[in-house]
Amino acid sequence: MFKTDISRVVLGFLRIQDIPAAEITQILNTAFDAGINTLDEADIYGNYNSQKWLGRAFKTDKTLRKKFKIISKAGIVLKSKPNANPKIKSYNTTNKHIIESVNQTLTDLGTDYLDILLIHRPDQLIDPYEIDNTFQQLKKDGKVLNFGVSNFTTSQVNMMRACMNTPLVTNQIEFSALHPQPLFDGTLDQCIQKQIMPLAWSPLAGGRLFIDKDEQTVRVREMLTKIGDELGGFNVDAIALAWLLKHPSQVYPIIGTMKTERIKSAMEALKVKMSVEQWYRILEESQGHPVP
Ligand SMILES: NC(=O)c1ccc[n+]([C@@H]2O[C@H](COP(=O)([O-])OP(=O)(O)OC[C@H]3O[C@@H](n4cnc5c(N)ncnc54)[C@H](OP(=O)(O)O)[C@@H]3O)[C@@H](O)[C@H]2O)c1
Repeated sequence: MFKTDISRVVLGFLRIQDIPAAEITQILNTAFDAGINTLDEADIYGNYNSQKWLGRAFKTDKTLRKKFKIISKAGIVLKSKPNANPKIKSYNTTNKHIIESVNQTLTDLGTDYLDILLIHRPDQLIDPYEIDNTFQQLKKDGKVLNFGVSNFTTSQVNMMRACMNTPLVTNQIEFSALHPQPLFDGTLDQCIQKQIMPLAWSPLAGGRLFIDKDEQTVRVREMLTKIGDELGGFNVDAIALAWLLKHPSQVYPIIGTMKTERIKSAMEALKVKMSVEQWYRILEESQGHPVP
């Protein structure tokens, strides 16, 4: 397994708004005090503004940057890309695009380096040899320490690994009690086999877990509530995250709330001692049928 001191729960900045730096500083300090030492960003979040907002907080409190490891991503081009005027949303994993994206990210964050850079989504035109050169260039220049991918299938990861010298330390994937597919499509098997750290995005199904009324969500929510009660009064969020944490591939959930009370509540997941049977009761409700 990739040896790192990344906290077992990571804080994601997809949903950050244009709030004062002091408020972001408060969120960061709450997260750090609760045990989070890693932040997940991307060049495109907040319509290319998220990293600027986070950077404002780093500039106002100079102690903050050193407290956190930063993951960021490149490779998606939105129609709103500044000074570019793209006709459509597309992907671009060329050396030029990735280097420009990282340089902008470092400027926006006001930092010299990223801890991990990810290719955000599989690009049908990706050239793994070019990516390897790009990653080596970024590493040599001290701009990025480690590299990975996001939303890659097992065959895409195998292809990249076969062509690259640079290790891929993580595959960031969608995984939650409402989206258990990585358990069955080989993604987590591959993570164990190849010692790739699985980072789980939308681990609370992007908030749908708490509000949606479809049958699967209602079943899962009721079971998470019941098991939370059985284990001594844990909230739905903590049990949902504990379900991910129990998998032997060592999943690192990335939570997306910016509310300090919810960050603290989510971190209760680390205290949950879920039995194997309880884990399967949640899976049963997710799938809507008993295991074969
Ligand atoms: N690689 C990728 O393609 C990809 C894609 C999506 C996301 N990500 C990363 O993953 C991170 C997390 O994704 P996410 O934001 O979808 O994660 P999430 O934690 O599953 O969902 C966050 C949502 O859940 C709500 N929520 C959290 N705790 C709650 C509670 N106790 N009660 C009610 N609602 C609650 C939040 O509402 P409030 O905000 O109101 O608290 C927010 O709307 C992102 O920030 C980003 O870094 C990566």
